[in-house]
Amino acid sequence: MAPPATPPSHDPTVPRAIGILGSGDVARALGAGFARHGHDVRLGSRDPTKLADWKKGTPGAVAIGSLAEAASHGEVVVLATHGDATEAALRLAGLERLRGKLVIDATNPLDFSHGMPPGLFVGTTDSLGERVQRLLPDSRVVKCFNTVSSLQMVDPKFAEGAPRLLICGNDAEAKRVVDALLREVGWPGALDVGGIDGARWLEALVPLWMRIGLAQNAFTHAFKVVR
Ligand SMILES: NC(=O)c1ccc[n+]([C@@H]2O[C@H](COP(=O)([O-])OP(=O)(O)OC[C@H]3O[C@@H](n4cnc5c(N)ncnc54)[C@H](OP(=O)(O)O)[C@@H]3O)[C@@H](O)[C@H]2O)c1
Repeated sequence: MAPPATPPSHDPTVPRAIGILGSGDVARALGAGFARHGHDVRLGSRDPTKLADWKKGTPGAVAIGSLAEAASHGEVVVLATHGDATEAALRLAGLERLRGKLVIDATNPLDFSHGMPPGLFVGTTDSLGERVQRLLPDSRVVKCFNTVSSLQMVDPKFAEGAPRLLICGNDAEAKRVVDALLREVGWPGALDVGGIDGARWLEALVPLWMRIGLAQNAFTHAFKVVR
């Protein structure tokens, strides 16, 4: 008999149930990837029927539902919504459903109104991460995944080795859990840049990330700190 596939590595400190608000590339990549690593995932959308084919083709414990159902499902909830729709999506999900939870914010406040490359609709003195934290004062918001492509979010593959992924947030324990989650899904861990106000700079990296992608016509890169 063939040996069993390598079992997913479960860090007991990382909650199993993850809700993801979103139906786009990020939600799908994180949903499939977390499920591959043994998580019990529910994606939420205003119109979950658009996720039916994705659910059918995705192995593991994946479910779909409304934004409210995804928010209720997750002990950890990931925000994977269009930047300027994030606050609206949170209100649709029900802010009270996120009280006390770890909220991983993967969103970016990209402004494409002047074409490519994008700018930001908030920045330097505020950020989308901070707006989310203000909207959810009783949640522990950690900015994470926003500086890499959806293609690299789980089991990343970089020719020069994966860097520690940039994160920030106000709650040390929440960031420790995110660090453990990152290690579980193939990263060497997190590079913590401080409080949620660090989102001003993690988000500001993304127009730069886009410029680098356009210059090299490749979009699977990430930022690495070297000494
Ligand atoms: N794509 C990437 O590689 C990448 C990488 C890093 C970070 N990000 C960031 O991650 C987020 C998600 O990106 P994405 O490319 O997966 O998808 P996206 O196209 O930016 O956003 C799609 C999601 O936004 C929701 N949405 C749009 N308008 C809405 C509204 N008025 N009210 C409520 N929800 C609304 C959609 O909800 P419905 O399902 O209800 O339609 C859908 O779930 C963005 O903030 C993006 O900047 C993207």
